[in-house]
Order: sequence, then structure tokens, then C-alpha cells
Amino acid sequence: MDLSDYEWQLKRPVRMRANDFEREGRLKHVLFASQFNRSLLDKLCAMADKIRELSKSKQGSDDLRHLLSHKRAMLYFTQPSTRTFLSFMAACQILGLTCNEVRDPSTSSEVKRESPLDSIRMFSSYFDIIIMRSKLPDFAECCAYLMNDLERQERRSVPIINGGAGTDQHPTQALLDVYTIQRTFQFDHHEGTRRSRFHDLRRKYTDLTLGPDRKVYAFCGDLGRGRTVRSLVELLSLFEGVTMYFIAPNHETLQLDVDLRNRLVDAGINLHEFDSLDATLDGVPILERLDCLYMTRIQREHNSSQQEAEIGSLDLAPFLLTPERVARMKSYAPILHPFPRDSVVQEIPTDIDQDPRAMYFRQARNGMWARAALLVHLFNVVDDLYDLYDQAFKDGSDSNTRTR
Ligand code: NCD
Repeated sequence: MDLSDYEWQLKRPVRMRANDFEREGRLKHVLFASQFNRSLLDKLCAMADKIRELSKSKQGSDDLRHLLSHKRAMLYFTQPSTRTFLSFMAACQILGLTCNEVRDPSTSSEVKRESPLDSIRMFSSYFDIIIMRSKLPDFAECCAYLMNDLERQERRSVPIINGGAGTDQHPTQALLDVYTIQRTFQFDHHEGTRRSRFHDLRRKYTDLTLGPDRKVYAFCGDLGRGRTVRSLVELLSLFEGVTMYFIAPNHETLQLDVDLRNRLVDAGINLHEFDSLDATLDGVPILERLDCLYMTRIQREHNSSQQEAEIGSLDLAPFLLTPERVARMKSYAPILHPFPRDSVVQEIPTDIDQDPRAMYFRQARNGMWARAALLVHLFNVVDDLYDLYDQAFKDGSDSNTRTR
């Protein structure tokens, strides 16, 4: 088998492909964002909360570490990664999985002309899950087809998780972004009770509702090549009454892909495109309208030499956040960024980090809980997690609100 053998499968409509990656309503592999539905997102966010709560005590952490202590994970990251790699590793450690890593293919037998698919099958001999990042957009999906073929032949097969595929998809980043948005719009992360803070906000912002529904989301920067944006907008389109603003420089490479734009419009998303953070809509500055701002860096590493010259000469000032611009935003509107941010271009200068709306470090930490929840789902130990939680908090009343 080589990658070209899977071409016909890759060309099928996304719904058919997604069917190949689930079993009895549970994900088998995680390749792209549209595999998630609203109910699964709610369950994963609820589990992430439980894992976070349990982790606060030594007893809870010790118990969590027994959940998957009989499993081993391979982190195969041949493209640069800090947060995704480390937070997956931390998520594995929280649940007791043993981790191993290959980050540089020159240290693997690929230098002896082993095919990448042979490497993957070899990993599956030693490990129980493969979490991977590749510069090839379809590689993780091909690996999942390989695992499905092996399963049909009653051979050993393990789940594949896509930790970032080329410029295409980054489903687990989207998951942690939604988790962060969901937690932010519970308004429970500041001093005071949830009730009083939300009620204060409701007095000022009379239309404000809890949760990700009925919000205005703005995405700014490299929207053409930002795989995190591509995946996140797919997840947010599952929520009700969502509006999306796309703010990108006037260069085809950086703007929202036409296919994705059409899909969003078909999904009923109220969508607007702008060429500056200072733009207005119906006379009102978009900065004053938005409920959540998702910043991204310009992904120069993907530039061709022609793009290097063209994009290098663009004026990026209208796409950079400044304290003045932040001051115009609603007092609760979170600022997200998948990171890394560009320390030269400074789409988010460090003097914004102190602002309570700056959510990007919290967002990165949420990746650990959200990815741990995904592992609990994939290994089907959801009931064990809830049993641990109920045991730890048996005096609390939370057990009535669980969504397994
Ligand atoms: C992003 C990525 O790798 O796609 N980072 C991440 O995973 N947190 C965004 C980027 O590289 O700009």
C-alpha cells in the first residue's frame, strides 16, 4: 500500500469519509472537525471539566492516572509543534498513558527508504494510539484508512489522531477552542459567583446569553492557511444563531477559502468579510460588535518566493491588535489565539496579556483537559471517569447534571 492507493477514498464526500472513522456513535479516529457533532462536543466539554476538577487533588490525580495506565501512545510529530505536542503528552500523563515520540524522521528508518505507512504500521505494533502531525494534508487520514484495512483483516489496528495536517485541518485545536469559548461564556472564571457576574453583564449587555450560541465571532489574520480557523469555524457552525466576521489582508492566499465560505453560507451562517479591524458594519465598528476575537499569525513558512515578496509588502497594521483596539471591545469579549504568536509582527503585543480578555494562555492550558477528554472518549472509559468523579464528589449535587 502507498498513499496513492487511498486517493479514491480521500475524494469521497466528507460525510462518507466521516462514517469510516466512527463506530457505534463513538469516534474511532479523529481526522477532521466535521466528525464532531453538538452532542459529542457537549460531552467532551463536560468530561474536560470533570478531569480538571479531579486533577485539583492528589487523590483525584492519582485516580485519573489509573484510567489508562495500561495503554501506550506514540506522538509522531514531524512538523514543528510546542503546544499540541506538549499538551497531548500532558493529557496522556494525566490519564496514565506511557508516551513515546518521534519528531525527526531522520532518526527513523525513513532514511533507509522505509515508506511512511510502514513506519505507522510499525508504531501500531508497539503502541495503542498514534497522535500525529504532518505537513502532508492527507497523511493522517491515509493512516486511518490503513488502520481500517488492518482491522478488516483482523489484524492489529489503533486509533489515529490528527494533531495538525498541512494547512488543512486541526480538529483537536478546534475542540479546545470551543471548550475555551464554552467556559468563557459561563462567566465563571472571575471573582464572584457565576450568577452575580453574569447578571452584572446582562444589565449592561441585555442580549447576552450563556454558551457559544448566538455570538459574533471574528477571525483575523491568515485565514487562508490557518488550519485552526478552518477547523474552528466548522465546529462553531454547529451552534445556533452564530455570526462570523473574517478579517484578512487583501491577498487571495490569506483570505477565507471560497469552498469553506460557501459551506458556511449554506449552513446558514451570517458571514461578513472585512479588510481591517477598524472596519464598520451598518455604521458600527466591528470591534464594538464582536463577542469573541480569534487572532492568528501570518504563516510565512508556507510562502512561495512570489508570495514572500507580495505578502512581505502588505501593510499588516490593520490586522494587529493594539491596546486602543482592545479598549473598544466589549468588556467580556475573549481574545483567543492558537499560538505561536509572531514576536516580530506582533499581531498581539505582550502589553495586552494583562487584559482580562486575553484568554490565550488559559486556552493553551484548556488543550490539556480537552485532549484528555478526547482520549477518555476514544478508549471508551467514560463511565470509569464518571465513577471516579461521583466517588470523589459524592457529597456534591453535580451527578444529576452529567451528560455521558
Ligand atoms: C497552530 C498550528 O500549528 O496550526 N498552532 C497550534 O497548533 N497551537 C497555529 C500556527 O502555527 O500558527
